[in-house]
Amino acid sequence: MLIDVVTIFPEYLAPLDLSLIGRARRDGLLDVRVHDLRDFAHDRHRTVDDTPYGGGAGMVMKPQPWAEALDHLMTSGGEGASPRLVVPGPGGVPFTQAMARELADEPWLAFACGRYEGIDERVHEHAAQDLGLRVDVVSLGDYVLNGGEVAVLAVVEAVARLLPGVIGNAESLVEESHEDGLLEYPVYTKPARWTSAQDVTRDVPQVLLSGDHAAIAAWRHQQRLERTAARRPDLLHASQPAAALADLDLSVATRGDAAEILTLTRACWAPEYARYGLFGAGTATVEEAAAELQEWTTWTFRAAGRLVASVRGRLDPDDRTTWQIGRLMVAPDLQGRGLGRELLAFGERQAPSGTAAYWLNTGAASERSLRIYRKAGYRVRPGEGAHPGTVDLAKRAAR
Ligand code: ADE
Repeated sequence: MLIDVVTIFPEYLAPLDLSLIGRARRDGLLDVRVHDLRDFAHDRHRTVDDTPYGGGAGMVMKPQPWAEALDHLMTSGGEGASPRLVVPGPGGVPFTQAMARELADEPWLAFACGRYEGIDERVHEHAAQDLGLRVDVVSLGDYVLNGGEVAVLAVVEAVARLLPGVIGNAESLVEESHEDGLLEYPVYTKPARWTSAQDVTRDVPQVLLSGDHAAIAAWRHQQRLERTAARRPDLLHASQPAAALADLDLSVATRGDAAEILTLTRACWAPEYARYGLFGAGTATVEEAAAELQEWTTWTFRAAGRLVASVRGRLDPDDRTTWQIGRLMVAPDLQGRGLGRELLAFGERQAPSGTAAYWLNTGAASERSLRIYRKAGYRVRPGEGAHPGTVDLAKRAAR
């Protein structure tokens, strides 16, 4: 994997020489290149920031040095290659283990470390629209750091340790907090009985010394549930209904669902809008969402009252033998667990008898969706889809 980091503090990234990441670099599993943004500023003071338009505190990073730095990265890759651009920032989507896994599949990542009040918004647009990069603004958590460098250290460490060969014992990757949506169980080592300097004696839980593997597994699972409930009840909520569509409450959507459907649409589509520069595009208002409920039958799936998935279907107005499936949506925190595939099969089952083909439309670069559809037997139709930047897919219906 190739990693480029652009920053005004190259020394900040020195820890990437240490420990497992340092060894992975020396072993050739990982190539990390750190670039000084000021090398792309050409005035005497190598200025990278200026005051914000519209007023307000602090400084904003200028577009020109960033554009030159990104252009430089683009010319440094192989023919036709381009990095996925990660911009750390408190306004980004939360960085999760699922995202670490996704980033670990990329051959080339570039990180743009903002400082001050952030980077001029046009740099994001330039990267996405002119350079064709996938751009993700990613946040470490709901707090503000002074810049993106610490976030890059965290993200690179989380990603690099997933690369084949970086960690010797691959099993230790499986049994970890967040790998399956629960926190890790407590761990103990020798001695079995330990007395602190304050003369308090603590024993390792008896079950761990019992040699009874089934009892140990059950105890650990219980500990994980209790710990998650105590420290991260939000995870427990998300991990429970995720097993299958059958665990969710199904209804046909009515007008009263329009606002929540719109919220789910925004949550699911935000990365696409950002990638194509279509901020605010698509269904924009609750009124529009309600009007679309008249044209399609929309099914909603709820977990503990919360709308977590939805799909809609209708006969093609121009070809009554084709069943159109649309707005296949799973809440971002529940994605990657097979619900999308189930939802697609559900959508197909709603087609009336006599349906000859299923039809869908998705972003031309929406790899994740395309992968699910192809696996389900859909084929991309040549040419542009029903909307700009999209493709249509079709599959013959089993009669
Ligand atoms: N830069 C500033 N604050 C940040 C945060 N919370 N996450 C990622 N990058 C940041």
